Amino acid sequence: MKIKNQKPTTMKSLKSAALLFLAAMVFYSCSSDNTSTTETTEETGLAHQAPEAPVEDDGKGIGPITSVEVGDNIDEALAAEGKAIFEGKCSACHQLSDQKVVGPGMAGVTEKRKPEWIMNMIINPEEMTKKDPEAKKLLAEHLTQMTNQNINEKDARALLEFLRQNDKNS
Ligand code: HEC
Repeated sequence: MKIKNQKPTTMKSLKSAALLFLAAMVFYSCSSDNTSTTETTEETGLAHQAPEAPVEDDGKGIGPITSVEVGDNIDEALAAEGKAIFEGKCSACHQLSDQKVVGPGMAGVTEKRKPEWIMNMIINPEEMTKKDPEAKKLLAEHLTQMTNQNINEKDARALLEFLRQNDKNS
């Protein structure tokens, strides 16, 4: 009696143990698949890069300046302010001609760049050379990072006016 009763019971519990084990394996492999997919995404950095990549380059650069009004004529007083700042903080690296020193010559810059881009480059050069396609090219060419000269928006606007004057006079 004892032996007869024990055998089926043992078989039954072995079977259900095996089924449980299988179910656990299936569950485990599914969930570990999910985990590894997430990890791969994080490892490649794709999930992080996507939102940072500019959707469309509007040519205004990256920084606090999103819109600047410039007149048709040069504001001479503002340009004179810009000239003084340029001579103190910029001329060590930039000529007013098209000649390169440490950085590119300034001649023609207001014709090839938007005013917002120029001001963002002056205020925010490190982020610009990391993320803005045109500023990245400049860094690759000049191999020196333009230093952040702690220029505020008002002074950057004066510098822009001076660069506009420089281009108008040439
Ligand atoms: C230490 C040298 C250095 C100083 C100081 C410096 N720059 Fe630059 N500048 C550069 C370099 C180098 C580049 C090219 C981008 C790069 O490599 O970071 C550049 C790029 C620029 C550009 C973009 C030029 C183009 O062709 O599009 C402008 C505009 C500019 N600088 C303006 C200024 C102004 C205005 C100042 C002063 C407030 C200034 N820079 C101070 C080195 C300097």
